[in-house]
Amino acid sequence: MSVVKRPVQLDQIMRLGSNLDIRREDFVLYIDNFYETPDLVYDWLEGQSYPYWKYTGGETRNSVDYNDCRIAQRMPGFGSQIEQQKIMTVLKLCQENFWQGKYRIDFIHEFNCFQTIKIFDTKLQHYPHIDSSLLDDDNCTTLNMLIYMNQGENGGTAVYNGELIPNDEAINVLYPVEERFKIERIIPAKYNRCVIFPGNRLHGAYIDDYRQFSAENNSWRYSQVLFIHPATDKMHRQVS
Ligand SMILES: [Fe+2]
Repeated sequence: MSVVKRPVQLDQIMRLGSNLDIRREDFVLYIDNFYETPDLVYDWLEGQSYPYWKYTGGETRNSVDYNDCRIAQRMPGFGSQIEQQKIMTVLKLCQENFWQGKYRIDFIHEFNCFQTIKIFDTKLQHYPHIDSSLLDDDNCTTLNMLIYMNQGENGGTAVYNGELIPNDEAINVLYPVEERFKIERIIPAKYNRCVIFPGNRLHGAYIDDYRQFSAENNSWRYSQVLFIHPATDKMHRQVS
C-alpha cells in the first residue's frame, strides 16, 4: 500500500505565536506560546522518520537502550517573510538580554527526538555538556535556544555545577549525573515553550519519567534546538 505524501509549508506551520509570554529568570529567557499552531508542528514531527545520531559506528547504547535521533531540515529560506520575522523577533530579544551586537544562526530546523527502550530511573540523564566555551562570559557566549514540543510537563533541561568531563555520549548518552555533578536548576519543559540560555553552562536534557518517552508506548521526547552565535568574527554571516 502506498503512503500518501503531502507537501508542507514549514514556515507557515512554524510561524511565531501572536501571544508570546516572555519572561527572564536569572540567566534563562522563557518565551511561552512560541508557535502559533504548535499542534501542526507536533503532527508534522509525528509523521517523520528519525535518523539516529550520536553513534560512532562502534560501541554504542543508541538503538539498544534508547533511540536518540535528530531531524535536520533546512529552513525554507531567510527570504521567507514569516521566517524572517520570527528570527528578527528572537534576535531582538537576545540582544535585549544577552550579547548586544549582531548574531549569526544556521538556517536549519533541528529537532532532537529521543525515546527510551529500557525504563531508567532519574539517576541516569543525558550527558552534561557545554555548547560554548566555559570561559566565555554570559554576554558573549553562544546561546542555546530550545523549544519543548511535548504535552505535559516531564523534566526539561538540567543545568549543573561541576567539572567538565570528556564527552562519551556517542557510546552512551545517559550518565549517572549526580555521581559527578550537582544539579543547579532544572529549566522546566512545557509544551510550546522556548527557552534561551548561555551555552557556556553545563547542561543536559532531564527526564522525570522515562515511561512517557518510551518505545513501549510509542512516544518520543521532542525538542527543537537552535544555536545563536554572537557574530564576533567578521567572516561570519551576520543577521539582525
Ligand atoms: Fe546542549
